[in-house]
Amino acid sequence: MERLNHILELLYDRGEGFFSLEELSAAAGVEPAEMNEHLEALREKGQELDFSPDKGVRLVRPVRLDPHLIERGLETRRIAKSVLCFSEVDSTNDVAFDSVLQGGTDGLVVLGEFQRLGRGRLGRRWICPPGANILLSVLLINSKAALSHEALTIAAGLAVSEAIEDACGLGSQLRWPNDVLLEGAKTAGVLVELRNISAQRAAVVGIGINANASPDPAQVDMPATDIAEHLGHPVERTEVIRALLARLDEWIVTIEAGKLEHLHERWVARCGMMNQRVTVLSGGRRHVGRVLDVSPLEGLVLSCDDGRRVYLPAAGSTLESCES
Ligand code: BTN
Repeated sequence: MERLNHILELLYDRGEGFFSLEELSAAAGVEPAEMNEHLEALREKGQELDFSPDKGVRLVRPVRLDPHLIERGLETRRIAKSVLCFSEVDSTNDVAFDSVLQGGTDGLVVLGEFQRLGRGRLGRRWICPPGANILLSVLLINSKAALSHEALTIAAGLAVSEAIEDACGLGSQLRWPNDVLLEGAKTAGVLVELRNISAQRAAVVGIGINANASPDPAQVDMPATDIAEHLGHPVERTEVIRALLARLDEWIVTIEAGKLEHLHERWVARCGMMNQRVTVLSGGRRHVGRVLDVSPLEGLVLSCDDGRRVYLPAAGSTLESCES
């Protein structure tokens, strides 16, 4: 396995370039006669290879998600010590929750190439074609109370926005409670779920990012886009995921250390909703007013038209309209 991972790394790091079979064999320390066997094993793991009679072999980009390419050299403290990639699941959030009873450890990352029953917030579906986008869940077990639903939702959205900038150089905006937008259109969403599982408190941070494909407009209720559309070329999902895990890890550690102010500042700086007029449905009631703040502790702070000041939690709230 180690040898196969090394060959995969060599091919991945060469980008669009080819490796002659001799050069690849020498770099990997493998007899040239054995190389075809290893390349076949990579194919069986789902990687697509491009062979040229003159130039040799290369990986077809963007590559299929692979735990080794995602984990290698990642210096996270809390999450991503273990990464699982599946071809097809019902929902990566469910796989993360189910893993608690099967030895899944704190910080486990679950990725799917396709979800049969992907969930969005408030009972919505999250639909995307196989192999195109990022469908990721992070399991957190028995965290400190500071890692609340509210704080995790805010932190995950910010981490996605930062990762898109780190990996792709694109600036994005945050829309409370859980959306990441590129030029006003939704490109990512966050679904945090909490459950008690055999006396353990499990939180799963589910993140969907439209990397290389946007949903069918008929299936979504707001304009949507994907990263590739803004870059003008396909995006290598592995790089966005690595950046995301690094940023999310940093925020989780920061929140557990009680330093919420930093998270608050960074979130507000990327959010275009400050001081805008919004309508929010929350707890069965419609609230109309101006946004005063977004707090990682208390949610959306609204100065309502009727003079009330309300604090609306992310869970169960729907942003119905925003004037910006
Ligand atoms: C939303 O914007 O409504 C939240 C979307 C969250 C989708 C992700 S995809 C990975 C994880 N698994 C799921 O079933 N949902 C989340």
